[in-house]
Amino acid sequence: MSGTRSVIAGVGSYLPERIVTNAQMSEFVDTSDDWIVERTGIRQRHIAADGEYTSDLAMAAGRRAIADAGLGVDDIDLVIVATATPDETFPATAVKVQAGLGITRGAAFDIQAVCSGFVYGLSIADNLIRGGMAKNLLLIGAETFSRILDWEDRTTCVLFGDGAGAVVVSGETGAGDRGIIASKLRSDGTKHDLLYVDGGPSTTQTTGKVRMRGKDVFKHAVNNLADIVEEVFEGTDLSPSDIDWIVPHQANRRILDATARKLGVSTDKVVMTVQDQGNTSAASVPLALDTAVRDGRIKRGDLLLLEAMGGGFTWGASLVRW
Ligand code: UT7
Repeated sequence: MSGTRSVIAGVGSYLPERIVTNAQMSEFVDTSDDWIVERTGIRQRHIAADGEYTSDLAMAAGRRAIADAGLGVDDIDLVIVATATPDETFPATAVKVQAGLGITRGAAFDIQAVCSGFVYGLSIADNLIRGGMAKNLLLIGAETFSRILDWEDRTTCVLFGDGAGAVVVSGETGAGDRGIIASKLRSDGTKHDLLYVDGGPSTTQTTGKVRMRGKDVFKHAVNNLADIVEEVFEGTDLSPSDIDWIVPHQANRRILDATARKLGVSTDKVVMTVQDQGNTSAASVPLALDTAVRDGRIKRGDLLLLEAMGGGFTWGASLVRW
C-alpha cells in the first residue's frame, strides 16, 4: 500500500476518579510532599477503584479515541493494548477490550514493553497499516500499576499511578506529510536488574512487585533518550530544532527537563503531566498527548516527538506530524 500514511485520527484518555496526594502518601509511608515534589515533580496520582481493572480504563480511553476520530466500533479492525498490568496472565487484555467495546472485526493482542509500550505500539501500528494489515487501528496504553507496587517501599510506591490513553491510527492516502514520519525502537536486556518485577507465572507463580534502582535508571534514561531522538531524525530532513512539542513518557520532571536540555529544545515545549498523574507507564504518552490536544497546545501541522524509556530496558521514539 505505497502512499498510505499512518495518521493519528483520534485521541482519548481516562483517569480513575480517586486521587491520592503526596500528603496522603506520607500518612502510610516514610516520605514527604517536599521530597516527592523536589525529586520528581509529582504532586498526586490517580488510583483505580477496587474492581476497576486495566481493561476498564482501556475501554474508557478507547471509546473516547474512537469518538474523537469520528468513527464507530465497526470501523476498528485491530486492537492493540500496551500494558505491563494485564487483567489476567492470559488471555490478552486487548481481546477483553475488543469484546467490551463491541468490536467484532479483525484481531486484538497485547504488547509488553512496560513504559515504552505505547511508543512500541505506535511503530507496530504504523507498519501494520502501511503493510495493509489494518485500516483503523485502536492503540491503547493502559495500566493499573498500583496493583504491582510494594506500598511499603517508599523508593517506588510514590512514583506511579493508574490511567489509560488511546489513539486511533488510520491509514490515509493523500494525507500530505501528516502522520507518523519515523520511529526507532531499542532494548537492552542486560539492564534487567535495574528495573523489574520480582515475580511472574513461570518463576514464582505470583504477580510480583516493582523493584527499581532509581538513580541508575535515571542516568540511563537521559542518555538513551537523547541517543534515540538523534537516531529517529536520521533519514529525515528534520532536526530537533523543528520540534513543536515533545510528548514524553512521564517518569520524572528532572528526566524530562534534562532530556530537553540535551536536545537543545526549550523545556516550554515539553508536555508535562507527571505532576498530576505520576508515572502511568504505557499510558503516560497518550495521556499527555490527549491533555495537550484537548487544551489546544497541539495544533494541526505541529511536529511532535513522542519518546519513552522503561523496564527491560526498552526505549523508543516516534516523530509525528499532527
Ligand atoms: O518509568 C520507568 C523509568 N523510571 C524512571 O525513569 C525513574 C528514574 N529514577 C528517578 O526518577 C529517581 O532516581 C528517583 C525519583 C526514583 C529517586 O530520586 P534520586 O534523586 O535518585 O534519589 P535517591 O534514590 O538517590 O535517594 C536519595 C535519598 C535516599 O536517602 P539517603 O540514602 O540519601 O539517606 C533515599 O533513601 O532519598 C531517600 N528516599 C526518599 N526519601 C523520602 C528515597 N525515596 C524517598 C521517598 N521519600 N519517597
